[in-house]
Amino acid sequence: MQGFKGGLLMAENKIKVGVPKESFPGENRVALIPASVQALLKKGFEVHVQSGAGMNAGFKDDEYSEKGAAIVNERGEVFKNSDIILQVRAYPANPERGKSDLDLIHDGQVIIGMTESLSEPRLNEHVAQKGATLFSMELMPRITRAQSMDVLSSMASIAGYKAVLIAAEHLPKMFPMMMTAAGTISAAKAFIIGAGVAGLQAIATAKRLGASVKAYDIRPAVKEQVQSLGADFVELELETGTSEDKGGYAKAMDEEFYRRQRELMTGVIKDSDVVITTAAVPGKKAPILITSEMVKDMNPGSVIVDLAAERGGNCDFTEAGEIIDYNGITVAGPLNIPATVPYHASQMYAKNISTFLTHIIKEGRIDFNLEDEITKDTMVARGGEIVHPHVLEILRGAK
Ligand code: NAI
Repeated sequence: MQGFKGGLLMAENKIKVGVPKESFPGENRVALIPASVQALLKKGFEVHVQSGAGMNAGFKDDEYSEKGAAIVNERGEVFKNSDIILQVRAYPANPERGKSDLDLIHDGQVIIGMTESLSEPRLNEHVAQKGATLFSMELMPRITRAQSMDVLSSMASIAGYKAVLIAAEHLPKMFPMMMTAAGTISAAKAFIIGAGVAGLQAIATAKRLGASVKAYDIRPAVKEQVQSLGADFVELELETGTSEDKGGYAKAMDEEFYRRQRELMTGVIKDSDVVITTAAVPGKKAPILITSEMVKDMNPGSVIVDLAAERGGNCDFTEAGEIIDYNGITVAGPLNIPATVPYHASQMYAKNISTFLTHIIKEGRIDFNLEDEITKDTMVARGGEIVHPHVLEILRGAK
């Protein structure tokens, strides 16, 4: 087996990339699809895929081997023989079933995947203690150069699309306006809160289905994007001057701000058939934007799909992973939506992760160049310890 010397791969061997089958319950995605194998082989990688890794996403072992990947039966062999492991959910993002992977990780190995680095820093530390270099795909900076590697954006667009379908399934109305011999059916009214990646995709999807769509975001910069999709931007009299950080993400606001926002949104929510909430502040619990009182005020049959369920939810009633019925009002808090569209989710994820992989390889070697913003921002652990300042800060309880 080859190893690392001074942060560089020994040049005489090919870099071996391993793709284990995802083991998180309901995780149907795979980190690499057959179509991305060839590109990696051309760049000088050797690709080892655990048998069955792509099955749930619709990719058979044969398709991988036709593209030149080696199919490996044992998970342990994939880890043992690989310099770099590509995963959708690395152990910290799959703490129960993924725990046994810790015994398979070896010193100097590179692990790339989603790692819940900000919410599960301790588990990330466990990987660090194995001597592995850990890259967290969720920490990809939202900069133009990194767009093709941004898994959160890829997965959020899928979630935004699917949220509308979930809403449509539970709504006792149709979305489009229809003029029929049996009378005119008016278009459903959808309100999207948070017009980031998921929100914009939800707006576009709801528009395609024919709903009348409104949206609101605390970042005034997105107003034009909302309008360009044909939706109305809801203007609220709120002072949002400092709502955006330099990375283009929303900043946490104080409770008084949220109180006022809820008050101003009450009328729009009451008047909506469908409310899709996507309001997120990175690394923080999601703000409550819909209280129980506001839900009680909605018309029976209305549907709330809370995409922020994983981070505590934007609605008081949200239960992560559940669909609840409150007096005829449906509140859905779906989790891991991208895994319900595994074919395209894997295609997008594979593109993101293989682009990142080729980004950190320079002249056939892994280049741990911390001058590079993409490498620096995504590297969580190296040399036996956590190296990411923000993760360290959380670990030390400074936040
Ligand atoms: P994003 O950061 O691109 O968008 C979030 C938007 O919410 C931003 O535009 C931000 O300005 C806005 N926002 C923040 N606070 C707000 C407030 N008080 N009022 C109105 N808008 C506010 O995030 P992205 O990628 O679109 O993800 C959105 C949410 O969807 C996140 O909570 C994410 O975790 C979740 N998500 C859920 C998935 C699932 O399977 N359930 C899959 C992917 C994403």
